[in-house]
Amino acid sequence: MALRSIETLGDVRGKKVLVRSDFNVPLQDGTITDDGRIRAALPTLTSLVEAGAKVVILAHLGRPKGHVKPEFSLAPVAKRLGELIDTKVTLAKDTVGEDARRVVASLEEGHIALLENVRFDKRETSKDEAEREQLANEYAALADCFVSDGFGVVHRKQASVYDVAKILPSAAGKLVVKEIESLRRVTDNPERPYGVVLGGSKVSDKLGVIANLLEKADFLLIGGGMAYTFLAAQGHSVGSSLLENDQVNTVKEYMKTAGEKGVELLLPIDTVVAPEFKADAPATVVDSDKIPDDHMGLDIGPKTAKLFSNKIAAAKTVAWNGPMGVFEMEAFAKGTAAVAKALSESSCFSVIGGGDSAAAVRQLGYDESSFGHISTGGGASLELLEGIVLPGIDVLED
Ligand code: 3PG
Repeated sequence: MALRSIETLGDVRGKKVLVRSDFNVPLQDGTITDDGRIRAALPTLTSLVEAGAKVVILAHLGRPKGHVKPEFSLAPVAKRLGELIDTKVTLAKDTVGEDARRVVASLEEGHIALLENVRFDKRETSKDEAEREQLANEYAALADCFVSDGFGVVHRKQASVYDVAKILPSAAGKLVVKEIESLRRVTDNPERPYGVVLGGSKVSDKLGVIANLLEKADFLLIGGGMAYTFLAAQGHSVGSSLLENDQVNTVKEYMKTAGEKGVELLLPIDTVVAPEFKADAPATVVDSDKIPDDHMGLDIGPKTAKLFSNKIAAAKTVAWNGPMGVFEMEAFAKGTAAVAKALSESSCFSVIGGGDSAAAVRQLGYDESSFGHISTGGGASLELLEGIVLPGIDVLED
């Protein structure tokens, strides 16, 4: 199975090319705080613009659930895209309405129309196939062909991701191709030793991934909030740390399976704790089996950071998803920083997935080229690590 590339669409000069991008960027008071996803869309958009296509972009922002909500308007994205790309970008006032049709009809070669948030229309995310198809036909009527480049949404069976790709001649954009190639390098036949660093708050979000990795990885390094459920499963008291009691038995099974399959599963041996979840709470380091009852773990400790860094240094392939602690607060950012440093210094092929770990790496000031690949997808990259066939990818393969 191979992804159809943009080249399969032939000469696009003068043609209307519909592009699905993932512009779901973080906003604070209307200002974009991380434009990584817009930058990641530029290679595809620039190549279409240079080829003389009339580019029509479909994108979502947040989850407005079928309602037109001004706070989810793509206006800040249109502005930022206009600054980053050397062509005219026009934002339509609606998605498939009168204004969208007017803006698209008056597009010139090499110019871009960004349609308003696709999730303002409730048919976009509908579970009813006929409803989605109806909207997809309205998208398709605006263009000659379709390029799927919103990697962050390819795990969603939605009108602008999946259904429209079945109606128009369609291909994968450059970002989607790069993401899939990088993630497949990790999931299919990784160079060994192959390790995975998993963090983030909830183990329940990562159950499928862990189960799949127990079949594939040589080692798993567990940090972040999810580590406390593992420590509890080992019989340790975790104080007031995040704990998913209902997952303790599942986690016990995972630890047993890891032992049987010879997968090394490493948990934090020391932990940075504080009496409360506050940036200026007094932080101390304790052994992970001695977390005081009135304290919570908020980061991996220095001994764990060293242990994890040494494992990373010896690996040939590493995937990382989820921060090791509350990296947004300086006192609890050292564990995440240590993993980022170890990956940047290692000669292994690394893939960083999940919005938080990718944001952490950028926030720490690392150049993206220090890593094999920084994924723009959270859920999508996690589902690929889980071994799931994604609808938005399946539909682009021959
Ligand atoms: C993301 O932010 O991970 C993607 O844009 C997908 O968003 P969603 O989870 O709301 O579908």
